[in-house]
This record gives sequence, structure tokens and C-alpha cells, in this order.
Amino acid sequence: MTLQEEILRRRTFAIIAHPDAGKTTLTEKLLLFGGAIHVAGAVKSNKIRKSATSDFMEIERQRGISVATSVMGFEYKDVKINILDTPGHEDFAEDTYRTLTAVDSVIIVIDGAKGVEAQTRKLMEVCRMRKTPVIVFINKLDRPCKEPFDLLDEVERELKIGVRPLAFPISSGTTFKGVYNLYEHNISLFTSDERLTADASTVEIEDISQPVLNDYIGEKFANQLREDVELVEGVYDAFDREAYLRGEVAPVFFGSAVNNFGVRELLECFIRIAPSPRPSTTESRPINPDEAKMSGFIFKIHANMDPNHRDRIAFMKICSGVFERNKNYLHVRSGKQLKFSSPTAFMAEKKSVIDFAYPGDIVGLHDTGTFKIGDSFSEGEKLKFTGIPSFSPELFRYIENADPMKFKQLAKGVDQLMDEGVAQLFTSNLNGRKIIGTVGQLQFEVIQYRLEHEYGAKCRWEPISIYKACWIESDNAEQLADFKRRKHTNMAVDKHGRDVFLADTSYALALAQENFKDIRFYFTSEF
Ligand code: G4P
Repeated sequence: MTLQEEILRRRTFAIIAHPDAGKTTLTEKLLLFGGAIHVAGAVKSNKIRKSATSDFMEIERQRGISVATSVMGFEYKDVKINILDTPGHEDFAEDTYRTLTAVDSVIIVIDGAKGVEAQTRKLMEVCRMRKTPVIVFINKLDRPCKEPFDLLDEVERELKIGVRPLAFPISSGTTFKGVYNLYEHNISLFTSDERLTADASTVEIEDISQPVLNDYIGEKFANQLREDVELVEGVYDAFDREAYLRGEVAPVFFGSAVNNFGVRELLECFIRIAPSPRPSTTESRPINPDEAKMSGFIFKIHANMDPNHRDRIAFMKICSGVFERNKNYLHVRSGKQLKFSSPTAFMAEKKSVIDFAYPGDIVGLHDTGTFKIGDSFSEGEKLKFTGIPSFSPELFRYIENADPMKFKQLAKGVDQLMDEGVAQLFTSNLNGRKIIGTVGQLQFEVIQYRLEHEYGAKCRWEPISIYKACWIESDNAEQLADFKRRKHTNMAVDKHGRDVFLADTSYALALAQENFKDIRFYFTSEF
């Protein structure tokens, strides 16, 4: 197969959802269709349940599972599908944001009873920023759900994206009859027993005005469906794939993941319309996937489960060319040539050594602490991929050494954990103290635990009251200097030496923005 053919048959995407909407269940059903697993239940939930926030063994166990399920590849009808898993727990949202930098499209799962929830709204902002094409799957139709038109309006309003239903549900809850497929013109009939295998019962109905529809779903629901479909066709424009690819319109499907219902329709449509690997941006030029030379970047680093081996797996997304085992590549940041003797790929829950990988694929690289998120690899060109952001953290604490004999271990541990993107480190200009910023409470516990178990260091947290950290920049050197002098006690530097303003309150931030018009305040920063 040519490089071009390999590229065209690849779909790399992530499923995002508010916790409990059914992401894990849907992932599993997709793998079932792909033949990657044969019975449901093979992919364990990787979510760290809220009740387990203090159970470190649980965190460790879950971390292990999430390595295994970080990337799941499978083939379906000659299409190579790569699903990138995202952590369910909102404290790991930043990890999710970064994973979104490595995908070409996204499926959003929404609970039909709850509608659009907070986490989904946040994740959609990242998709919108990156113009990522999204497909919406409204789940749990076997439970009483909101009205389909209300759900469609809610998605449009809350996620700020146009919608176009490609399937339409026939009732929900105990009277759920099935889903009408608006582009294939057939009906999938719902049977409520949980289906563990990948067969679905559909009936072709070319014309829903035919009385035969009544035989399948009863007159009342048949009439309702006829009305609904007429309304859909009247209200919504025909599905426009280009608008979907531009991230302007989201096709919407309905189903019940746990019953494996509506999933086939979703998958069939997905392989047809979802984009194959798209060009990537770098500081110097765009990179097309079909360029002959290999390039890629690291978007995720995962620590080893075994505390005795402090090695890690770095996940590289291939952006162009063919990646080959045992071939030398330039690690752009260090300027060193590196080759990998055992790069891994992930097929469902199995990890195996691969010889080749193509654009869109994710390769696991063994890392002994050399790599950082955002690192680029190439065949010589000094590429720096852009658009791999770190987000302004929301929770802050001073980190203190609790064991004076282990100063070095602590420094090394903190350094490596920051490279993994677990949290962000700032150094206060006021007193030189180190501040850790995270997006969730749980990360402080994870850091403390991992420092102790992986690096033999002990840390202590001390409170600091900060509302937000934002990176600042200005072309007006005088104003910048003035700002830094006045705000001296609130200034810090990040790991790369960039200036960061630690605003005490939202008011202080608004005031600073108001009074220093030439200063740009950034809430995300490139790695
Ligand atoms: P997440 O990864 O998005 O957090 O959600 P997950 O798939 O784990 O699903 C959350 C819960 O919702 C699970 O129940 C799951 O079985 C259920 N679920 C998923 N899809 C559907 C659906 O289509 N209909 C119904 N009725 N339920 C669905 P749980 O009780 O939390 O876990 P479990 O013990 O059933 O595994």
C-alpha cells in the first residue's frame, strides 16, 4: 500500500464526554465492531471514581489501566481506526486537552436524560479553538430522555455549533422503539436485552409513509416519526460534509451504547465522513501527512506502573512520512539522533512492537526521562509543532521539601512530573518559593504519592491564595517593566522562564487588564 493509501484509510479520534455519559461503554462497543475484542466487558473503565480520590492504590491501578487503554487501534472495513482515550475524571482535564491536539476528529457522547453537561462544554471549547470536526452521539435512549428536538437545540446553543441529525429516535425510555437512519433510510429496531455481540437488527424502509412502518413500531409512533422526519428535513439544511470538516456543523446520532444500539450507524457514518490525518502546523511551515520524511510530536507521557523502573512511555503522533523501527530520527529539542528498537502500537488492550507506523498512528516510545510534552522528531529539519497548549491552572499550593536529606530526589521528581504534564511549576519572584498549579485537587495527592513512591522524596503543601495564573507579554517594554515592578509580589516565572502574573482575585485580574492596555494576558501557553 502506498503512503497516500495508508493515510487515506486512517481515522484518529477521541471520544469526549462528561463523566458517566457512556464514553467507556461506547469505546467498548466500537472495539466490538472492529473485532478488536469479542465480548463486552474486556475494556475496563479507566475512570477514577470520585469516591476513590484518596485511595492511592486505586489511582495506581487506574493509571495502569489507562496506559493500556491510552490508544486503541482497530480495523473496520479496511479503515484503520485509532481511538485516543481521554481520562474521565475532570481533575485530569488538562491531559484530555492535550490528547485533543493529536486527533483529527472527535465524537462527543451526551446523556440523553441530562443533556449538555459542564465538562462537555469545556472540552468543546478546545475543539472549537482547533476547529476539530465533531460528531455527537446522544446516548441512553433506553432511559426516559429529553425530547429529541430540545436536545438538538440544547447542543446547538450550549456547544455553539450547528447540528444536523443523521438519525432520529423513536420515543425513549420504556417505549423506545428504535432509531430511524436518515441517510440510509432504514430503521434499527430496539430490543431491550443487552446485546453483547456486534449484530443489529435493521429493516429497510425506503419510504416511511408506507403502512408497513406501522407494523413495526405501531401506528402512534409511526405517525410521530413521520412528523418528526418531515420537521427535520424542513428545519435543517442537508448535511454538508465540508461544513462538518470545518468544525461548523455536527452530525447527530441517537442510541444506547450499553445495548449496542445505534453504534453501527455511528461507526459506518464515521468511517465515511470523518477526516483522515490532516496537515499539522509548526512554527516554520505546515506539514502535510504525505510528505516523504517522517515527523511527529509527543503529546502525552505516561509513567511506568512499576516504581522500581522509573521509565516512561511517551506517546508520539506521526504527522508525516513513515516511521520505522531502528531508524535514526532527530530529537529536535536536544539536537540528538535517536532510534527506537521497540516502538509499540496498541491494538485494543494489546501492546505490540511495530516496524512501521503511518501518519495518524500513535507510537509508544520507551523514555528514560529524556522527553517532554511537545517534543518534535524529524529526519533533520528543526521542526517545532505548535498548538500543544498548557492551560492556566486553577488551584495552587506552595510545595515544600519535607525531608531535607532528599532535596535532589524532590527536585528531580518535580521536574519529571512537570515534563509529563501532571501539573505546572512556577517560581515566585517575591520569595523564590516553588508553586505548583493544577486543574484539579486530585493532582496534589497524585504528585505527593508519586514523589514518595517513585522518587523517594517527601513533600508538604502549603496554602497560597491565587485566583489564576496567566502568562503576560507586551511589545511595550516600558509598560511591561512598570507592570512587573508594581506587581512584583504577584509575579512568577514558569519552567521556561516566561513571565507569569498570579492574580489574587478575578477583580485584580480585570483591573490589571484594564490599567495595562498594552499587555497581553494569556490563559493558555504553548509547551
Ligand atoms: P463514562 O466512561 O462516560 O464515564 O461512562 P460509562 O461508559 O462508564 O457509563 C456510565 C454508566 O452508564 C455505566 O453504568 C453504564 O453501564 C451506563 N450506560 C452507558 N450507556 C448506557 C445506555 O445506553 N443506557 C443505559 N441505561 N446506561 C448506559 P454504571 O452503573 O455506572 O456502571 P456499570 O456497573 O453498569 O458498568
